[in-house]
Amino acid sequence: MKLKVNQEEREVDVPEDVPLLWVLREELGLNGTKYGCGRALCGACTVHVDGAARRSCVTAVGDVVGREITTIEGLGGEARLHALQQAWVDHNVPQCGYCQPGQLLMAAALLHSNPRPTDADIDAVMAGSICRCGTYPRIRRAIHAVAGSGSEGDGGAP
Ligand code: FES
Ligand code: FES
Repeated sequence: MKLKVNQEEREVDVPEDVPLLWVLREELGLNGTKYGCGRALCGACTVHVDGAARRSCVTAVGDVVGREITTIEGLGGEARLHALQQAWVDHNVPQCGYCQPGQLLMAAALLHSNPRPTDADIDAVMAGSICRCGTYPRIRRAIHAVAGSGSEGDGGAP
């Protein structure tokens, strides 16, 4: 089947019910998208499908044929960082880094639907992406930096 991934057409020969996450990582070599729980609970595998955040671990590849799939590799890269990636660098967001591709894709989808989110808006959306390192306060600051919106305070957490 033919997939549109990061604005390129890619062809894969897999059963339609294989999870998109497996296809991205094992067939297409796009291993920026991470496996966490495999059950739509952690957000590590988040990608965009037609601009909306989607858990690739529970998305059958057959369901996204002909749709625009964007992974962390397509959001931006070293040559040209997405504004959120630059803010992640500026605010030193990642700790171990494992959850961060999913966090960035979630944040991009949030700003697409809500360009000036409040703290509560950010927390409500980003709570679905689990960070074992507890980087939520820095994620919130970085999102505000891109949105140009002010934080109401993060309780002084690092
Ligand atoms: S690996 Fe998909 S939500 Fe956890
Ligand atoms: S930075 Fe380590 S899990 Fe989020």
